[in-house]
Amino acid sequence: MRDTSPKRVAIVGPGALGCLLATTLCRTRGDIWVLDHDSQRAALLQHSGLTLERAGRIEHFSIQATADAQKIGPVDLVLLCVKSPALGQTLPSLLPLLTKNTLLLAWQNGIGHLPVLLGAQLPCAVALAVTSLGAHLVGPGHVRFGGAGATSLGFLDEAPPEAQLALQGAAELFRVAGLEVRVEVDILAQVWNKLLINVGINALTAIHNCKNGALLENGEALALMRAAVLEAISVAQAKGIAIAPEPVARTIAVCQATAGNISSMLQDVRAKRQTEIAAINGAVLEEARRLGISAPANAELSNAVKALEKGYLPG
Ligand code: PAF
Repeated sequence: MRDTSPKRVAIVGPGALGCLLATTLCRTRGDIWVLDHDSQRAALLQHSGLTLERAGRIEHFSIQATADAQKIGPVDLVLLCVKSPALGQTLPSLLPLLTKNTLLLAWQNGIGHLPVLLGAQLPCAVALAVTSLGAHLVGPGHVRFGGAGATSLGFLDEAPPEAQLALQGAAELFRVAGLEVRVEVDILAQVWNKLLINVGINALTAIHNCKNGALLENGEALALMRAAVLEAISVAQAKGIAIAPEPVARTIAVCQATAGNISSMLQDVRAKRQTEIAAINGAVLEEARRLGISAPANAELSNAVKALEKGYLPG
């Protein structure tokens, strides 16, 4: 049987998820690189490696890290882990990594990355990854495991057979590294099923500056969560997207299961970074407007997070 498992892998963006995936793949025998736009942090990672905290255990991994994609050169697999707002400026810098045989897997939350990826005309196949793995960035290159979760991979459009083999190879690599991975035919449905959860949890935790579980004890927050998810469901249904049953109950269940987590959006606000609000509640609002659907709860959440960002982002 042909070996389709990727040998050279570049992880772009050493945030919480990027570092978690890098430490996971360090357990395989691949040639693993981290590409970071920040050359000082890249030098630090190259020198000191990555640290993974999991269930009270601390593990260190050496890693090859650089801010110069030319230094890495063509790879078999790119894991694009930068946040949605950074996608537009990141994609052109990846060209030295990409050939027609490369598979690029995009791991962003929300739906804001979809038009950017579709319009990018990259020289390689592009697939999406939707994950419920939990990760918290403690410091540069230092990640705390936040909980196991399934990961779905899939192409948005019809992909050529070689690209499909490359995706199976990537899935196998993750499985060997210990992740639960499925290749999905309808990845857009997975993207939206995860979006609904992020719509209900992320902005509210940022606004209330609380862990996911605290939302369950706040009646007002719960009402807004429910309203925002219901609006997003109406948008998804109008777009013909296959939504899994009981999305509001699922959002509450995820809140319970991740009660101790600091959501990715609250991590961004606390670190004074641009959040993914435009790709989550903002994107639902935009789609709702386009379809003539009213979405006041998503408008309220989107405005409140933008107001928080205004307090710390320049300009
Ligand atoms: O973005 C996040 O933080 C996660 O997707 C989730 C599920 C809300 C858990 O914290």
